[in-house]
Amino acid sequence: MSETALGGRFQFPGTSLTVHRIGYGAMQLAGRGVFGPPQDVDAAVAVLRAAVAAGVDHIDTADFYGPHITNQIIRKALHPYPDGLVVVTKISARRGADGSWIPALAPEELTQAVHDNLRNLGLDVLDVVNFRSMHGITEAVEGSIEAPLTVLADLRRKGLVRHIGVSNVTPAQVEEARRIAPIVCVQNCYNVALRRDDALIDDLARQGIAYVPYFPLGGFTPLQSSILSAVASRLGSTPMQVAQAWLLHRSPNILLIPGTSSLAHLRENLAAGQLTLTPEVLTELDAITPIAATH
Ligand SMILES: NC(=O)c1ccc[n+]([C@@H]2O[C@H](COP(=O)([O-])OP(=O)(O)OC[C@H]3O[C@@H](n4cnc5c(N)ncnc54)[C@H](OP(=O)(O)O)[C@@H]3O)[C@@H](O)[C@H]2O)c1
Repeated sequence: MSETALGGRFQFPGTSLTVHRIGYGAMQLAGRGVFGPPQDVDAAVAVLRAAVAAGVDHIDTADFYGPHITNQIIRKALHPYPDGLVVVTKISARRGADGSWIPALAPEELTQAVHDNLRNLGLDVLDVVNFRSMHGITEAVEGSIEAPLTVLADLRRKGLVRHIGVSNVTPAQVEEARRIAPIVCVQNCYNVALRRDDALIDDLARQGIAYVPYFPLGGFTPLQSSILSAVASRLGSTPMQVAQAWLLHRSPNILLIPGTSSLAHLRENLAAGQLTLTPEVLTELDAITPIAATH
């Protein structure tokens, strides 16, 4: 595979972990509402195997997807894992019997979450664990993350976790986390239409820290924009490919983890790295984003 395939490569700071900039987000592999099993487990296994066969070496997951089910599907599809595959997971929530997302921040809950990930993924050590702040549910909200981050840093010292990231966080929370442990990545909600983190991304780029947008395609309500559609039809691509190419152009520290349960969408997403956007097109796409930085 050429060095420019899948968006080129990125090395997590202070680590030996190098991944293609286009990865895969596994959340869509659980059932409806990210709860329970998918309708077709074999199809989910096929998507994961196709992603890795195409060169994807960065998979994002969480044991609270399903719960447990997404990790079990990853294990079924890919274990024993190929050399170089980086599985990134996250902790800080559990699921209620009704599928609700419940903060799980006590030291024993965070420790249990790491062990759940290890068991269900079939690993002895987790490559990267994101602490997902629950101060806000769908967007970052200020509040200290020191106590749970300290627990995660301890689990790292014990050898259960190699590297730490943070998710759903404000710039102040990133700074707080960096005082507790080395932070290799930040995973926040961001896409061509939702750009609250513009300043944070530039700051992290200067520090060499990965920025991994969740909902890169809009999440549960995929992006719809006449500008995206117009650009896509001019370039002979699709709006979702343009949205991903825009992220790759936005900053070299951005890593993509688009989620899909469809082989056709997977192939489309992996091809987005081949799309070159001119400065004129990038300016045109900037018009999609009326939301300015707010934190
Ligand atoms: N840290 C956090 O709090 C957090 C929160 C949410 C998600 N995440 C992570 O971020 C990853 C990405 O987020 P996401 O999966 O929620 O949202 P997303 O990648 O923005 O969008 C996924 C949606 O887009 C559709 N889709 C994917 N590729 C498409 C294509 N080429 N054309 C048309 N539709 C397409 C998917 O449906 P199909 O299945 O039909 O393709 C799905 O409905 C997740 O998998 C998860 O690992 C993290």
